[in-house]
Formats: sequence, C-alpha cells, structure tokens
Amino acid sequence: TRRVRTRDLLNAKARGDRWPMLTSYDQYTASIFDRSGVPVLLVGDSAANNVFGYETTVPVTAEELLPLVRAVVRATRTALIVGDLPFGSYEEGPAQALRTAVRFMKEGGCHAVKLEGGRRMAPQIEAITGAGIPVMAHIGFTPQREHAIGGYRVQGRENEGAEVIADARAVADAGAFAVVLEMVPGDVAQQITKELPIPTVGIGAGPDTDAQVLVWQDMAGLRTGKAPRFVKRYADLAGALTEATRQFAQEVRSGEFPAAEHTF
Ligand code: KIV
Ligand code: NA
Repeated sequence: TRRVRTRDLLNAKARGDRWPMLTSYDQYTASIFDRSGVPVLLVGDSAANNVFGYETTVPVTAEELLPLVRAVVRATRTALIVGDLPFGSYEEGPAQALRTAVRFMKEGGCHAVKLEGGRRMAPQIEAITGAGIPVMAHIGFTPQREHAIGGYRVQGRENEGAEVIADARAVADAGAFAVVLEMVPGDVAQQITKELPIPTVGIGAGPDTDAQVLVWQDMAGLRTGKAPRFVKRYADLAGALTEATRQFAQEVRSGEFPAAEHTF
C-alpha cells in the first residue's frame, strides 16, 4: 500500500465515490483510523479545544500543533495527513503563509496544509500551492474568526449564499485541492459540490458534499455535553472510559487489583 494522494481524491470525485475524514492528534487514534480505511486525517487546530483545553482555537500555536502532526504521520501508512495552520500563522500575507506551510511540511512531515478563509486567502493559497504544497481550504463557518462572526452560526443562509459560493470558486481558482464547507445550508453545499472541480468536505453541510469530516472525539463520544446538531456519535467512549476508571479505582481501594497473575 502507498499513501493516498490528492490526485486520488480528485479521481474519487470523478467516480462519484464519497470518502470520510477525521481529525486525529495522537498515534493510537491515527493508527486505528488509518487501518480502518479513513483516507484523509486532519491534525486540526481543534486540538486547541480537544487536546489542550482552550475555549477557542485562537490561542493554539504551531509549536503546540507540530508535535501532534509528527505523531500522526509516524503512526500512519496510508492516510494523507493534513496539518491545520493555526490562527496568526498565515493572515499577514502570502510570505508568512508560505513560511508556516513549509514549516508544517518540513518539521511536521504532513502531506498538505489547511487554512481558513475564501476570497481573502486566495493570495496565500496561490503562494503555498505555487511552492508545491497542497492546500485544503476551509470556508463557511471558520472557527478562527469566531469572535468576528459572533459565535457558531450557519453561514450562507438566504442572500449570504452567494458569498459562500464566491469563496468556494476563489479557493478552487487559487489552486486548493479540496475545500471544507462548515455549517453551510445543504442546498448551497450541493451547488458548490456540483460546480467545483475539487472535492468538498462537509461538516454541518448536508449529505451532498464529496466527503464528510467530524472531530474524532465527537464521532466516538469521548467529548461529553451537548454536541452540535451536525454531530453523530458512533460510540460512547466517555461512558466506557468512565466505567473502566471507576472499576480500576474501586479495585485498587478494595485490594482486588493487582491479583496473583499481575504479580512477579
Ligand atoms: O480543526 C478542525 O477540527 C477542523 C475540521 C472540523 C474541519 O478544521
Ligand atoms: Na480547524
């Protein structure tokens, strides 16, 4: 087996084959997702929330994300690994964006980078792809702009739809190999998916995108509390881990663990 390439994802779109994407931030999940046939893994800046415990993705840095990128790359054989450029590492202009993207490729070892923004980020996407680094764009709701947008809100309702469509065209024209559509009405996502030559990856964007992505802790039910409406939980890892932890703690207190078979 060999690594998935961006070309494979283009070919999948041409065939009408849909594909899954998950976030991953560590070697065990990366290895499981890789061996389960998930062709693209994203080391998301959502590590800010899901690994480091920040309230938003704004504070997380390249220094924090790069070791996670390296871990996911080391643990996988087949998946294409996308490293997410954090807030503040590419907005200044194409030169800063290219410098950060090169760092992710050289120090992180990933195979592509992702950044947030549509028309505004076309110069950055052109600079990075011009250097031979594949770029996944991310439009619609973009969490790094949460404070400007005013919270988690669907983008592209009613006459705003044209804005999201213009962003989609711009990132494709700038050379992106794929585009994440986050919290976009299903009909807008469908129209973009039909029109664009590159794959669309939906999260809260309905059933008609070429691919679907979820944060793995949401998908597997490790995160507790109310999940966004677009999340489906495929397991209850929080429940399983809570039960295991309670049992371990109880057996230590009672003296039941360790038993003879655990003892040298
Ligand atoms: O960081 C992240 O998890 C993401 C995906 C939800 C697309 O950007
Ligand atoms: Na992200």
